[in-house]
Amino acid sequence: MNAVQLSDGTAAPALGQGTWRMGEGGRPARAESDALRRGIDLGMTLIDTAEIYGDGASERVVADAMEGQRDRVFLVSKVAPQNATARGVPAACERSLERLRTDRIDLYLLHWRGRTPLAETAEAFERLQEAGKIRHWGVSNFDVADLEELGPGCAANQVLYNPEARAIEFDLLPWCTAHRMPVMAYSPVGQAGSLLQSGALGAVAARHGATAAQIAIAWTLRQPGVISIPKASDIAHVEENAAAAQLTLTKADLAGIDAAFRPPRRKQSLEML
Ligand SMILES: NC(=O)c1ccc[n+]([C@@H]2O[C@H](COP(=O)([O-])OP(=O)(O)OC[C@H]3O[C@@H](n4cnc5c(N)ncnc54)[C@H](OP(=O)(O)O)[C@@H]3O)[C@@H](O)[C@H]2O)c1
Repeated sequence: MNAVQLSDGTAAPALGQGTWRMGEGGRPARAESDALRRGIDLGMTLIDTAEIYGDGASERVVADAMEGQRDRVFLVSKVAPQNATARGVPAACERSLERLRTDRIDLYLLHWRGRTPLAETAEAFERLQEAGKIRHWGVSNFDVADLEELGPGCAANQVLYNPEARAIEFDLLPWCTAHRMPVMAYSPVGQAGSLLQSGALGAVAARHGATAAQIAIAWTLRQPGVISIPKASDIAHVEENAAAAQLTLTKADLAGIDAAFRPPRRKQSLEML
């Protein structure tokens, strides 16, 4: 599995696994943790969760998936904006650590910007880092102006990114690349909606003997510094997604995708799911 380097040199796998809607009863929790375990075995060892997913239930599924193999996993979780205060951050982190049944989170993100001053949240993250409860901290759904206001120390920015939602290519992605800040692409297969019906992706997929989902994932991974986190609770999807890491898209493939999904020509506001 290719790796992406955080600014301190720590390596994180470029292809990981999302967990939104896990633990909410769509499938038995055991099937979901088994799917994540299969993904870990296939090299998708970065797992992304959040305290708000299923009101903590997703973190519990992740704990089951990590059972007996915590050290193999690069664990990402997120604090909700309403908990982003000096007192709220460490309390939320403790609750997450308890649900995750671990003593540390590798990357702890502010889920989106709320009312708490950014400096207060950043300082709370740094206290947690000093205490060894988190290894790195970062943000999610932040555009350039928010990142500039935030200042140094932020290890990653997690944002919506797939061929249908590529506004970040205008200035956010270049900004993050220039600052050696990995971008984590969320909803890379467009939540299995219209994106996977796209004729353009289908044509590229046919050339590679692949699926549209695999092409969408390979597309997010085509540039260095991007981490992609598809969510799959179906084992067949997990296996398919892991294999996407081996695909290399050609210039003709990328041109076909650009023709169907135009790259941004001006600033657009950052979309958030
Ligand atoms: N920071 C944020 O604000 C934010 C927002 C959204 C998401 N996220 C994170 O990013 C992760 C991924 O985003 P997402 O869950 O919104 O969307 P996604 O990963 O684009 O799509 C997930 C959906 O696609 C299906 N799927 C996965 N692989 C497939 C494949 N190979 N073929 C066909 N269908 C496939 C899944 O089905 P099955 O489950 O049935 O396999 C699921 O229904 C989340 O789980 C979460 O961890 C973060």
